[in-house]
Amino acid sequence: MNQLWITKPLDKLMAESTGEGNQLKRTLSATSLVALGIGAIIGAGLFSLTGIAAAEHAGPAVTISFVLAAFGCAFAGLCYAEFASMIPIAGSAYTYSYATMGEFAAWIIGWDLVLEYALGAATVAVSWSRYLLEFLGGFGIHLPVELVCSPFEEVTLSDGTLVTGGLINLPAILVVCLLSLLLIRGTEGSALMNNILVTLKLLVVVMFITLGWSHIDPANYTPYIPANTGEYDHFGWTGIATGAAVVFFAFIGFDAVSTAAQEAKHPQRDMPIGILGSLVICTILYVLFAHVMTGLVNYTVFEGDAKPAATAFAVTGYDFLQNALILAILAGYTSVMLVMLLGQSRVFYTMSKDGLLPPFFSDIHKKFQTPWKTNLFFMVFVSLFAGFVPVSDLGHMVSIGTLFAFCLVCAGVWLMRVRMPHIHRAFKTPLVPFVPIMGIVVCLYLMYSLPIESWYRLAIWLAIGLGIYFFYGKKHSGMNPDNPENIES
Ligand code: ALA
Repeated sequence: MNQLWITKPLDKLMAESTGEGNQLKRTLSATSLVALGIGAIIGAGLFSLTGIAAAEHAGPAVTISFVLAAFGCAFAGLCYAEFASMIPIAGSAYTYSYATMGEFAAWIIGWDLVLEYALGAATVAVSWSRYLLEFLGGFGIHLPVELVCSPFEEVTLSDGTLVTGGLINLPAILVVCLLSLLLIRGTEGSALMNNILVTLKLLVVVMFITLGWSHIDPANYTPYIPANTGEYDHFGWTGIATGAAVVFFAFIGFDAVSTAAQEAKHPQRDMPIGILGSLVICTILYVLFAHVMTGLVNYTVFEGDAKPAATAFAVTGYDFLQNALILAILAGYTSVMLVMLLGQSRVFYTMSKDGLLPPFFSDIHKKFQTPWKTNLFFMVFVSLFAGFVPVSDLGHMVSIGTLFAFCLVCAGVWLMRVRMPHIHRAFKTPLVPFVPIMGIVVCLYLMYSLPIESWYRLAIWLAIGLGIYFFYGKKHSGMNPDNPENIES
């Protein structure tokens, strides 16, 4: 069989995950996995994009957009859960594709996941830097524009001045470096840090909902679904659908749980709990949060507002809590970056173990037992994007890359059911093939709703990836029958 379509046998995958040498440490419990999911999920999508989706596309019915996006994610999440319980190995969608659709598809998806995790971390780092400026501005501290803004980027400073272009976004680089170094020290330490950040983030979301609830003005819900203006995505039902594509970013990250499968204490039981548990908790919180947010002020107020949560919360009159809100949002963003950076290093670790990337990426630190060189590599890679590139469009690239990965995972679960129906699955996706098909349909629809430029960028990124595969990966692959190392073993 042509090497491109060779699948990696399941028993080989499992043997590698339990074999000696270069192994990751199993430290994560079910609770840590749920926290890891929530850590990656709640961030810029909720605290920034909810306002944009309400003001430009859906009005108060942004709650329905959240439910729609959640449906797409739930279908994909159910498929991820089956795979994660069946193949509890680091690498996530990459590993699942290798076992089901062959090396070529696996490479594409592994390469595609860089968009989700590495660029996702860079995007959130820039938003983090914006909120930091806001927080420091509240104390009268103003950092020089040249050091907080990348070239060609537009920033509104806390005093309201609009600035275009600085030299470097130093806070964004700093936070990426600190988190990468923390990850090198080990998942135990980073899981503890993540648990603290997640607790803080959940507290602020719950605080926003409970304190805000009694200040809701029902008049803000009329009309609940503003009439379509004549433009396709401007309110009405089509606006709700486009709103769903916008807030989809808020759900990205639940799949990152599956990258840590090799560090879970009881992966087959706990991976589905981690993936589906975090997704359910976040969906409930998102709908409530969006309901309160659009009930506190009229949705039209959020037009062009980069910090809608703070704007809405201001009407409650709890001024002393504003800084706490921003601080907790900063904490929330930090945990998103932490899990994204963790996920990215684990995907490259696995690809390197398979020979598709140089061994550099799977070198485990003797003391900390983490793939430290990969962490260092992505510390630099993500810092370059966060520090120097205007990231306004990166969010769309992150979304399209993630949706593409979801489609392949849904297809993979279905394929695996047909090809290997008898393999033990600790968790089974219900109603196959209905659920995978619906996952693909909804994800393709959300991809279709994204700007055409993101499709071009996805194509360019994949073309670069193909170049690397044919130049390096294919030759060095552990599945290449002509590779002398494989023949010897
Ligand atoms: N879901 C993550 C966020 O909203 C990526 O920041």
